[in-house]
Amino acid sequence: MSRAEWRWLGISVAFLAVFLGVSIGFVMTHPGRIPTTPKIAPVAALLAGPMFSHPGVIRLGPHHYRAVVIAHQFAFNPATMTVPVNARVDFYITSADVMHGFELPGTVINVEVFPGYVAHVHQTFTKAGTYLAVCDQYCGVAHQDMLGKFVVATPAAYRQSVLAVAKPAVASDRPEAAGAVVYAAHCAGCHQATGQGIGGAFPPLAGSLGNYSASAAGRLTITHVLLFGLNGPIKAAGKPYNGVMPAWGAQLSDLQIADVLDYIETAWNTAGSLPKNPVQFTAASTAAARTPALTASAVAAERATLSTQP
Ligand code: CUA
Repeated sequence: MSRAEWRWLGISVAFLAVFLGVSIGFVMTHPGRIPTTPKIAPVAALLAGPMFSHPGVIRLGPHHYRAVVIAHQFAFNPATMTVPVNARVDFYITSADVMHGFELPGTVINVEVFPGYVAHVHQTFTKAGTYLAVCDQYCGVAHQDMLGKFVVATPAAYRQSVLAVAKPAVASDRPEAAGAVVYAAHCAGCHQATGQGIGGAFPPLAGSLGNYSASAAGRLTITHVLLFGLNGPIKAAGKPYNGVMPAWGAQLSDLQIADVLDYIETAWNTAGSLPKNPVQFTAASTAAARTPALTASAVAAERATLSTQP
């Protein structure tokens, strides 16, 4: 071979090395594109497990949701998901057959989805809108039709959507609908569906519960208000009220009271009034508040001792 040939051979090999290096470097510095969880189960076991046997959106707590998605040829299950705006959404995605992608164009959500693996990504959606969910990995003849819908709803639209499907996917889960149903049945008559109350008669709840839930004392007091009622003059949002809040302790279960408190805390998008790490009301916290029993007047007195009065 002549020297020119050797030189060109050298250049070609150098180019190959550079391309390979760039590719390997990209994969190693972009771990988010590849599921980081180990292969945890055979596909069938994974799909039959507690998470993927109930795909869909589940409420984990105030402003925190879980979206469980199964990708398969050629659709996402569920095809449509709805979450409220300003909530953190943790996506758990797996594939039932071949490799797919899950991308919400316009957001940072973009992962590869492999059978037997769980891809986990999260994002807080601060703008209401409808996103297309697309499969961005070629997965077969109808790959281009593999589309879904991800809706970030306004608080009002979200309430409509949870009331429309008031049945929890799993009995042990606590979807927002549970609290919404209790609220609609027992609280909305006075405090109104909007949580705004009625001026002079029934105090507003929207935007106020964060003041209570910021402290253990506040959480105990608001639980007492639901359990034992409230009787006596109070101030709410700067205005005086002198009505009677009935006691619900005998009618509602510990879990129902926790559910409705959780609902009131977040239903009207009171993110600004929520403490940084809101503590969830639970059946156990209701049960603990039941003893000792208080009178409705004693609850009003307890409320008056709170330093931040809603
Ligand atoms: Cu699934 Cu492309």
